[in-house]
Amino acid sequence: MRVVSGIQPTGNLHLGNYLGAIRNWVSMQDEGECLYFLADLHALSMPYEPAELTANTREMTAALVACGIDTDKSILFNQARVTAHAELQWLLNGTARMGWLNRMTQWKDKAGKNREGQSVALFSYPVLQAADVLLYQATHVPVGEDQKQHLELARDIAQKFNNDFGDVFTLPDPIIPPAAARIMSLRDGNAKMSKSDASDMSRINLVDDPDTIVNKVKKAKTDPEPLPSEAAGLDGRAEAKNLVGIYSALSNESVDSVLARFGGQGFGAFKPALAELMVETLKPISERFNALRRDAAALDAILVKGAERARVLAAPTLARAYSALGLSR
Ligand code: TRP
Repeated sequence: MRVVSGIQPTGNLHLGNYLGAIRNWVSMQDEGECLYFLADLHALSMPYEPAELTANTREMTAALVACGIDTDKSILFNQARVTAHAELQWLLNGTARMGWLNRMTQWKDKAGKNREGQSVALFSYPVLQAADVLLYQATHVPVGEDQKQHLELARDIAQKFNNDFGDVFTLPDPIIPPAAARIMSLRDGNAKMSKSDASDMSRINLVDDPDTIVNKVKKAKTDPEPLPSEAAGLDGRAEAKNLVGIYSALSNESVDSVLARFGGQGFGAFKPALAELMVETLKPISERFNALRRDAAALDAILVKGAERARVLAAPTLARAYSALGLSR
């Protein structure tokens, strides 16, 4: 089992990232060989500030280590340090089809009505993502629901390449965490918890201190009804469903079993229990994060070491891809 996944280094991690993706990354470390990377090359697809990208890449590295990514077990690096990612993307550009990329919903959403004004990198973003996983013969790729289409594209690219030029790539399977891990905004149960939401009250940041967490949970939007005793009773109650879902994800128990305890009670009883569980989970993470985040040299050393190990694993597949295409180097 070879696990490969990436995350964009776009600043602070929040509870949604942790429960939706990172926690899954951490638990997979014991199940196979894992490569995790900061997708800094993908940042080129949208306007950005170079110095901020450097800082965010380090910050995200600190956050991942704080969350439990063990750099002895897993290979942790930034994409730009392993030039094979960019090289393989170019090779795969010969196989990927315009029509396939035109159907990507992320491209359609991000480009909106202004396709002509977008960078070529935004359009070919999924080809780089395919290179990221195919380069290592990944068998399993943990991603959020929103990245499933990109993974299917990676499989299509691998299949066509293998078909046209001979067997080089493994077809990777996506691993999508359960729906319960879809964490929504604390202000709007129908919007995803997001770092770009204007209101900081909408999300729990991994660096929030206990008082901030307690306050955000206290102010979280709810409805006036008491909690139901079974999961089905949460239908149509987006905010209640989200808070119970967060509790269930944090405590690793089913929504039904959470509701067996809290059913019939109001949010006045449920919210303090939820806040306590959040504080308990996040406290060790934010302590480790704060101890690490300012040590740029240590963070760079982690990424340098990870990149060295990743290069070794990438080399044979890259060489086979060049050779299959009739390219000498
Ligand atoms: N596009 C992914 C996201 O926005 C990040 C990513 C880049 C990725 N390359 C990847 C995820 C390869 C999985 C595998 O979440």
